[in-house]
Amino acid sequence: MEQVITRENVQEAVEAVQGFAPGFEPQVAVILGSGMGQMAAGIQDAVVIPYGQVPHMVPSTVQGHAGRFILGTLSGRSVICMQGRLHAYEGNSAQQIAFPVYVMNQLGAKTLVVTNAAGGIDPAYQVGDVMLISDHINFQMMNPIIGPENGFGPRFFDMTHAYSPVLRDLAKQVARSQGLGVHEGVYVGDLGPSFETPAEIRAFRAWGAHAVGMSTVQEVIAANQLGMEVLGASLISNPAAGVCDEPLSIDDVVAAANVAAGRIWELISGVVARL
Ligand code: HPA
Repeated sequence: MEQVITRENVQEAVEAVQGFAPGFEPQVAVILGSGMGQMAAGIQDAVVIPYGQVPHMVPSTVQGHAGRFILGTLSGRSVICMQGRLHAYEGNSAQQIAFPVYVMNQLGAKTLVVTNAAGGIDPAYQVGDVMLISDHINFQMMNPIIGPENGFGPRFFDMTHAYSPVLRDLAKQVARSQGLGVHEGVYVGDLGPSFETPAEIRAFRAWGAHAVGMSTVQEVIAANQLGMEVLGASLISNPAAGVCDEPLSIDDVVAAANVAAGRIWELISGVVARL
């Protein structure tokens, strides 16, 4: 397996980004999920860097994922935003998926905000709802730390508070002030790209999961190795397989995410303002 996350590779990528935005030091890193990429338009004084311009980054190949970094200001804080993330189902390794987290951290970001579109496993969840992620189940059976020690943190590290309770409380306060009701639940990360079967969804429900998607867990593992504080938010874009009778379609997922993306963005902007 190719070792992508190395000191040298990350440093080369950091220097390339700094070449586009000399002196820029982000406080917060934001990863935008499916259908939410448009929200990056809310970042002021934006510098746009396509992944192809950054050594060791692979371009995004997915509909609804632009595949570029956006550096700029959000709610008065300097942020680096991934407009489009990398997925395992595109053929990316865990290390390729997690690599940009190391780059954003080494640029200065100590906080990671991850978003995604997810299928609702909890039958009470409605399309368009927001779920703050309290924990995850890594059903992708891959991990970006596998391999020789990468030197960015311990090989064995605690994941008890993988998603910061402090940031989640802050997000709940902000949501309340915005009149936005939010759920709190467990996200299960699946490989995809096929959607799950109803039997898989029943199994995930029995495991205590509330929403399912094809991303996020690799990035959050990396952020925890780096000691970053993580806030995760899922936009419920569809009932998961078997939760209702409708067949699943990626077009419906992206359309629902497009419609409700503003809610998560407003929430994130409110949280970032109070960091
Ligand atoms: N399953 C997996 N990934 C998803 C789903 C789903 O139902 N909806 C959005 N991303």
